[in-house]
Amino acid sequence: MTSSQKHNTSQSSPCMPRRTLIVATTATLVNTVFPSNVFADEAVDRPKEGDYFVDFEDTKFTPLRADQIIIGQPQIIAWPVSPNSKIVRDGSRLNKVLLLRIDPATMTEQTRSRSAEGIIAYSAICQHGGCEVTNWIDGPNILECPCHNSQYNPRDAALVIDGPTPKPLPALPIKIIDGVIVAAGTFTGRVGFQQL
Ligand code: FES
Repeated sequence: MTSSQKHNTSQSSPCMPRRTLIVATTATLVNTVFPSNVFADEAVDRPKEGDYFVDFEDTKFTPLRADQIIIGQPQIIAWPVSPNSKIVRDGSRLNKVLLLRIDPATMTEQTRSRSAEGIIAYSAICQHGGCEVTNWIDGPNILECPCHNSQYNPRDAALVIDGPTPKPLPALPIKIIDGVIVAAGTFTGRVGFQQL
């Protein structure tokens, strides 16, 4: 790549889901106290309308605000959070979302209708083999999966530009409430991936 530059927004790679990891360790750590919400269904449920988001590395679980998402910058990987129980939906890695901001004038009408103030959200899970879509290609501003280089167009419903992935990333409609990024619906399609 010449003028374009790739960023990797995360060091994470497909790994054992946190929920599975905890289950695996309970057999030997029977006296360990886990947060009461660890096994709650809400931690596993897919994001719903009204959920807010936290950066997946934020241990303080601060709601992400619209002004933290900068236009043209690489995607942020986030967890949805149930607004009433405050349970982080980190019981399934399929709940991870990408948040990014692009110029609404460059979006297709469908994508613009799912966005708010230029902020859009997609499933973070590549539809090919389940890696997290962590690469961002500066210049053309394209989402890329680091595993087999599938590329998705964030301005047009994350349609596939290149690579072996069979389908676009499902979108998650967004709204802004008092400056906070909030889900305005559910995923537009099934999140997940094909078995390789
Ligand atoms: Fe993403 Fe293969 S897992 S391109």
